[in-house]
Amino acid sequence: MNRRDFLKLAGVSLLSLAALTMGCGSFNAAKADAPAPKVKQSTSEGASQNMNNGKKILVAYFSWSGNTKAVAEEIHKQVGGDIVEIVPATPYSETYSVTVAKAKAEQEAGARPAISTKIADFEQYDTIYLGYPNWWGSMPMPVATFIDTYKMSGKKVAPFFTHGGGGVQRCMSDLEARAQGAKFTDYLCLSGSSAKNSQGEITSWVKKTQN
Ligand SMILES: Cc1cc2nc3c(=O)[nH]c(=O)nc-3n(C[C@H](O)[C@H](O)[C@H](O)COP(=O)(O)O)c2cc1C
Repeated sequence: MNRRDFLKLAGVSLLSLAALTMGCGSFNAAKADAPAPKVKQSTSEGASQNMNNGKKILVAYFSWSGNTKAVAEEIHKQVGGDIVEIVPATPYSETYSVTVAKAKAEQEAGARPAISTKIADFEQYDTIYLGYPNWWGSMPMPVATFIDTYKMSGKKVAPFFTHGGGGVQRCMSDLEARAQGAKFTDYLCLSGSSAKNSQGEITSWVKKTQN
């Protein structure tokens, strides 16, 4: 590891450690024997037949330590539709340093880790709320697998991210480059440490995505 890498890693470690110690880090990494994630359908009122203003919505998210999951669930509560977790077929370690190292290696290799997430009829969705944590300045590679598998072209994509202090970095630009042909709304980027207490910010952003 050269000095630049070390400083980058140390920075990320400190930031994320801070985020994790500020009450937002209950690990919930998927277990190896967990069944393939299913699309959960909304039963919320106002989302009759999972429609919102005549549009069918899917909230799809990746989350390792729970922050982005909390944001995704709040968005789902507000917009209705269906919700699905992007789950890697091989779970990441629950040990932070191991996951940080694996994530970096995958990003540098342009890896496409297999995912166990299956969506029967992706074509039915008009709008995708797509969320993930900032990993090494960009998207976790299982999200790249998801985007390669489920084409976003022609769909409205509302991106949301959580971070450990670095902000959005390349999360949005890399998504735009990968999800060619999608119509993007403004993104929402929340600090991981406040992700579970951001209802107000989420509500304001959701309104903008519905224009
Ligand atoms: C592998 C890994 C890499 C990370 N890289 C960054 C980064 O480059 N910049 C940043 O601000 N936060 C980084 N973080 C912190 C996460 O983005 C932040 O804690 C996020 O809220 C975690 O979301 P989650 O709980 O949904 O997994 C990283 C965390 C991990 C585990």
